[in-house]
Amino acid sequence: MIHDRPNPQITVLDAGGQYCHLIARRIREQGVYAEVRPSETPAAELAGRKGILISGGPSSVYEAGSPKIDPVILGGGSAVLGICYGQQLMAHVLDGHVRKGERGEYGHAVLELLRPNPLLEGFEESEPVWMSHRDQVEKPPSGFEVLAATLTCPVAAIGNPEARLYAVQFHPEVVHTPKGSTLLANFLFSICRCEKDWDPRGRVALLEQSIRESVGSRNVFFFVSGGVDSSVAYRLCVRALGPDRVHGAYVDTGLMRAGETDFVRESLGVSVVDARSDFLEALEGVAEPERKRKIIGEMFVGVQDRVLQSGHYLDGDWILGQGTIYPDTIESGGTAKAEVIKTHHNRVEGIQKLMEENRIIEPLTSFYKDEVRDVGRELGLPEELLCRHPFPGPGLAIRLLCSEVEEALEQRAEGWLIPVRSVGVQGDSRTYRSVLALAEPPAESALVRATELVNRYADVNRIVSLVASHAPMEELRIRKSGLSAQRVDRLRECDAIVRRMSHASGFDRRVWQFPVVVLPLGLAGRGDSVVLRPIHSVDGMTASAVAMDSGLLDEISAELLKVPGICAVFYDLTHKPPATIEWE
Ligand code: XMP
Repeated sequence: MIHDRPNPQITVLDAGGQYCHLIARRIREQGVYAEVRPSETPAAELAGRKGILISGGPSSVYEAGSPKIDPVILGGGSAVLGICYGQQLMAHVLDGHVRKGERGEYGHAVLELLRPNPLLEGFEESEPVWMSHRDQVEKPPSGFEVLAATLTCPVAAIGNPEARLYAVQFHPEVVHTPKGSTLLANFLFSICRCEKDWDPRGRVALLEQSIRESVGSRNVFFFVSGGVDSSVAYRLCVRALGPDRVHGAYVDTGLMRAGETDFVRESLGVSVVDARSDFLEALEGVAEPERKRKIIGEMFVGVQDRVLQSGHYLDGDWILGQGTIYPDTIESGGTAKAEVIKTHHNRVEGIQKLMEENRIIEPLTSFYKDEVRDVGRELGLPEELLCRHPFPGPGLAIRLLCSEVEEALEQRAEGWLIPVRSVGVQGDSRTYRSVLALAEPPAESALVRATELVNRYADVNRIVSLVASHAPMEELRIRKSGLSAQRVDRLRECDAIVRRMSHASGFDRRVWQFPVVVLPLGLAGRGDSVVLRPIHSVDGMTASAVAMDSGLLDEISAELLKVPGICAVFYDLTHKPPATIEWE
């Protein structure tokens, strides 16, 4: 049996930290395969690891139910590095003492090196580091030396070189700690004596071999979405098994961006299932976002099941291929919470059956997104596909707002209240509130003001700037409108203009995602308005609004105002939270 991943030399124990996956990724970037396991994993299951890291986490070691570790790992054969909460946990489990903090320390700090040591080899006497904690270690456990300190954190790094146990309060995995990768390399290579065993490129041959072994004489069926993961997984299977044994289908819902269906068909060679009229008919007259999602989810279930049944893909010699990647396989993968705000997923009965029967192949489950892109490059997939922004499953439907009533705007001191509701997330719960439109341009100062205004008005969760319009605001009205083919086409055209111009100017590479939204805000009972929503994010869980150069913004708005039926152009100034990335 050939393995497509090495036996891990390094395990990162997940204590609930946002950065747990980042630690594993940083280690892999150094050429060493690292896996993530729950913090409570018994020591016996970690036997043979050269090193174990304990991640940060939001808890305090004194809180009931806070993440624990099996203490045996601190006396076993592996070197251990605790990070942030990991340092506190290590001190707490041994005989050190952790002080409960009243206020946190977040952001930049200066680390003063107190004594030379193998973990901080290569650090200057003072180095910038990034901190994010409340509690801190007051007394290190016996046998440990304090290796470094900051002004507010006298125990910022500790070590017991004989036992090969180390811990730091700061975060070496984030880019704001410039010597962080030096620290990780010291731990991996001089303390743990790891060998390099991981390079996501050059793994294609091994992956192919492992696909052939798992699939045996069967065939593989894929639903591809046009996203990076399913495309790469599909192409890997085609390469491993040959095109005759792999079938890919793409459902055209009619809610895709301009040119998307042709692009997917041509770049991947999959078959296209035309379900445009089914989706549009089912959505006619529906305004509420969660109802749209539910209908789209149910339509997908129906169409996918129909494809599986009619093509006999549920019979014995077919298995299902999926583009699941590493963070999707782990419960604390960072997206679990988003479900509460918006429902994202649907369960297809036929797929469920294949899963229950274990007839499934997921070749990318050990890879992170950037590694999947590297594999895709090696497979020769176009860069345009590999570097595309995320696009939501329900497609343009959740970017096309509808209204069941006609309503006028309301003047407020700062601008105009637009009585069309969008989804927000405040205090971890969903809100569905109106939008405030300011007359000022979308500059950095407006982004700051937007946050203050959302805090001030209880009936608002989103702030936009008016950029350009065919008429003054007082003449615009919310009009009664549904999800018609004409409005979807209008949104598609606006989206294509924005995509083309932001690509040509290089702006698209500066943002993580750039939704274009259409509102039923028209003139004399007709037409719509467009909102530009470019954001920065790491994982979609939180996001910041981004300001655009005014020259480019003016050019884009001028083009958008030429689209028949477009009355005004707005720019979304709201971060997530309090708004969400998509409007619905
Ligand atoms: P929000 O709008 O919740 O978006 O801030 C976070 C990320 O999730 C995407 N998104 C979806 N993806 N089905 C999906 O597959 C959905 O229903 C859905 N809603 C939002 C959104 O594009 C962003 O990247």
